[in-house]
Amino acid sequence: MTDDVLTSQAEYYRRRAGEYDATAYGDVAAASARAARLVAEMDPSGTVLEIACGTGLWTEALAGQAETVTAIDVAPEAVAIARDRVRSNNVRFEVADVFSWTTTARFEVIFFSAWLSHVPMSRFAEFWQLLRGLLAPGGRVLFVDEHVEDRDKETYLPGGDEIAERQLRDGSKYRIVKNFVDPEPLERRLHGLGWECRIRRDDSDWVWVCGEARPVT
Ligand SMILES: C[S@@+](CC[C@H](N)C(=O)[O-])C[C@H]1O[C@@H](n2cnc3c(N)ncnc32)[C@H](O)[C@@H]1O
Repeated sequence: MTDDVLTSQAEYYRRRAGEYDATAYGDVAAASARAARLVAEMDPSGTVLEIACGTGLWTEALAGQAETVTAIDVAPEAVAIARDRVRSNNVRFEVADVFSWTTTARFEVIFFSAWLSHVPMSRFAEFWQLLRGLLAPGGRVLFVDEHVEDRDKETYLPGGDEIAERQLRDGSKYRIVKNFVDPEPLERRLHGLGWECRIRRDDSDWVWVCGEARPVT
């Protein structure tokens, strides 16, 4: 069931790539400015891995701060847009499914925007274990995502509290996973997996959260 939804979710983002910036961000210049501010506040220096980079709006901000950025996403259509947007020499894009991607590289920072909420609860522990293996000693995970206060905007399917239905402009419908971030339970859950995590709200226009996590055990 979950694998089916992950396949549908990947297909949804492949098909959505061309309309993503308009439908997710609307005012792209304002969104870019906000991403640049949040990334500067999180201060991701050194070697950065960006998971689920999408169309590259956050990659652009990361490129200005980091020594190198390796940005991966499962949707080739989104990566093509990101490659066009971010021409910096310190950025390398790769089309890859994070759950099966392998590399010998280790990263000082791992960043993801609007990705953690798409990780099914059944794969949450596996995902954080995977991050642990990708981090260099002393490294940290930085993320931004949507606050649980915005949960009502999704149409959840009956029988599951994390599977929602999304529709594209052409009317086609897809199942996706959407677990909005409730800061305190998420911090506790990560603590239980051996991470120290601090999450703060940023609601100057979107109700988003910014999190920082470090392995402690
Ligand atoms: C909500 S978008 C976020 C895009 C970008 N980070 C942003 O904030 O604008 C989620 C992204 O996750 C990507 N994605 C979905 N499943 C994935 C997977 N298994 N591995 C890597 N990326 C995936 C989608 O292609 C999409 O670009």
